[in-house]
Amino acid sequence: MKNILIVGGAGYIGSHMCKYLANNGYNPIVLDNLVYGHKEAVRWGPLIEGSISDSRLLKQIFSKYQIVAVMHFAAFCYVGESMTAPAKYYRNNVADTINLLEVMVEKNVSSFIFSSSCATYGEPVEIPITEKHPQNPINPYGRTKLMVEQILDDFKNAYGLESVSLRYFNAAGADPDGEIGEDHKPETHLIPLVLQTALGQRKSISIFGDDYPTKDGTCIRDYIHINDLADAHFLALKRLINGLPGGKYNLGNGDGYSVGKVIETACKITGKPIPINIVERRPGDPAVLVGSSKKAAGELGWKPRFPDLYTIIETAWKWHSRYPEGYKA
Ligand code: UFG
Repeated sequence: MKNILIVGGAGYIGSHMCKYLANNGYNPIVLDNLVYGHKEAVRWGPLIEGSISDSRLLKQIFSKYQIVAVMHFAAFCYVGESMTAPAKYYRNNVADTINLLEVMVEKNVSSFIFSSSCATYGEPVEIPITEKHPQNPINPYGRTKLMVEQILDDFKNAYGLESVSLRYFNAAGADPDGEIGEDHKPETHLIPLVLQTALGQRKSISIFGDDYPTKDGTCIRDYIHINDLADAHFLALKRLINGLPGGKYNLGNGDGYSVGKVIETACKITGKPIPINIVERRPGDPAVLVGSSKKAAGELGWKPRFPDLYTIIETAWKWHSRYPEGYKA
């Protein structure tokens, strides 16, 4: 069985990737420092607790296991925190990633799949956002993702390290079996917060602004199911294993839904009241973020299997209603 090193495999997206790989005949080897990840989420392969800043540990892992590719999900991802603690973001998301890449080069592992973000585009000048859209990130988080993309271009030229950077729009939903799901502490993402409100764990959901130039005045985002992200990673992996060149791809549905629509859909699915509270706009939130994934469709053969908002929230609800306290339970 082929070994894939999953850095950040105890986190939300990484854990879903591990399940997917195991179901498709691969052995996911997880490296996670468990700062935000959950060891209970690592069920489909070994867990090595440690950091990509630890070159000695990385070398041991690459010597012990024959690794065919690395998928890198380990990053700090709170946009607001990145504004107040940029050093933490540049060190973890950029410097530590360089460390990982250097060890890969030394150990002759040349296939890398990177979790990038639509945050690399910054304020959109055109919707839908294609890969050709200018990349002008407006916060340190987005800049860390763009820097790694650029570093990967340089590593390809200098060392032949081939990579695929996947620019996620809003990752959402959970494993359709309800085994694993989203458990961020603190939680800042809309869908889990809405579902926690339905569960009575929060009094209300704050809507960050209802005066945007959209139909219902609330922000529009492109929600993409976590298993569709896993599909795209798998297709990217196959592309690299087959010796094809890497690339940079958007991963979104191409459809946007407003905050109001998310709440309305969650009400239908849960059958519970979800009280709302309109508050000020959150700084840095563009009115509309919707991506075009035509390039991923054409070059990777990717097609989202869970594109509708109802299914996305339904799978999230399965997880949240079964494990209201997350992995702690
Ligand atoms: N929102 C609310 N109330 C909340 C939380 C969110 O109204 O309590 C709104 C936000 O204003 C936004 C939408 O819901 O319009 C989605 O917000 P999220 O925080 O769930 O997601 P973001 O769009 O802010 O963030 C996502 C990714 C980030 C990435 C960013 C790129 O989660 O990792 O897109 O802009 F950096």
